[in-house]
Amino acid sequence: MAQFPQLVFSGVQPTGNFHLGNYLGALVKFVDLQRSFDCVYCVVDLHAITMPQDPVELTKNIREVTAAFIASGVDVKKNIVFNQSQVAEHAELAWVFNCVARIGWLNRMTQFKEKAGKDRENASVGLYAYPTLMAADILVYRATHVPVGEDQKQHLELTRDVAQKFNNDFSGSIAARGHGDAFFPLPEPVIQGPATRVMSLRDGSKKMSKSDASDYSRINLSDDADQIAQKFRKAKTDPDALPSEVAGLAGRPEADNLVGVFAALNETTKEAVLRDFGGQNFSAFKAALIDLAVARLGPVGAEMKRLQADAAYIDGVLRDGAQRASAIARANMAAVKDILGFIR
Ligand code: TYM
Repeated sequence: MAQFPQLVFSGVQPTGNFHLGNYLGALVKFVDLQRSFDCVYCVVDLHAITMPQDPVELTKNIREVTAAFIASGVDVKKNIVFNQSQVAEHAELAWVFNCVARIGWLNRMTQFKEKAGKDRENASVGLYAYPTLMAADILVYRATHVPVGEDQKQHLELTRDVAQKFNNDFSGSIAARGHGDAFFPLPEPVIQGPATRVMSLRDGSKKMSKSDASDYSRINLSDDADQIAQKFRKAKTDPDALPSEVAGLAGRPEADNLVGVFAALNETTKEAVLRDFGGQNFSAFKAALIDLAVARLGPVGAEMKRLQADAAYIDGVLRDGAQRASAIARANMAAVKDILGFIR
């Protein structure tokens, strides 16, 4: 298959309660990857409206996610940071992909089943078609690497299927237009490290989520030191001491989760954490975890607050990023139109 220049793309929904799972599962990797790749990071507001949103809150949440990117260390000069709705080609390519993807593929998406719940007939068409828009987000830049948490793996597989089918369906036209044997790369998910699936602090079998009714289930990046401490202190555990080896975490989801979070925050491995804390009880471990979390997240939260107070700055970053993103997306979309046989 043709070689594509390496490019990172990822997105975060502006749906409020930006939390530790988002930070460790995605943002920390966004910052790491910018050292070796060109990166495009998107606040996916078109995805947010697949569920009901209050317009005033949505505006605030778009700025919150942007502030989280910057406060975590994403360099907005080196990389492209923007909100999705400012680059119309995402929606345009999504339509093309609605005509490439098969209904059977979308019917298998677990996120739709979870979010639509029992009342499927009443879910928006947008929620159902969500994965084709996500494929368009990535492929409109012909991105090759996508850092995400574990929960997005199935959507990434669908993105690869869409790219592959487009390349096959239009192979003659793609070759005739000088793109070789493939127009789209098959993007690789980047899902690594000890915190690819951070679990709820109240229930180790449930993912930490923006929409959990209990605020004690998650650490928000906007939480202050007291809130962080209180939430970890109340976090569910079991009565046993910590094991000395990772194998001893099997069947202990809450312990496994807290050890994973500690390892990710401390940029080490679960093995290393258990070497230090194996045999100790949870109160000693939680005290160390609280110190670590406050030291690591406190400055990010404070910087987010400072940035969010300056809406004009944030909006300027997004506008500038959107202009740079548009230049790439427009050129790729023009090539797609030529491949399809549209007149432009
Ligand atoms: P979203 O907004 O739900 O989450 C943003 C990122 O955070 C990760 N994440 C987690 N990681 C570890 N543990 C958790 N508990 C946890 N919860 C969330 C997500 O995996 C994600 O990386 N569909 C995407 C947004 C999107 C996108 C894209 C991503 C739209 N277009 C294109 C990549 C490429 C979503 O809903 O993420």
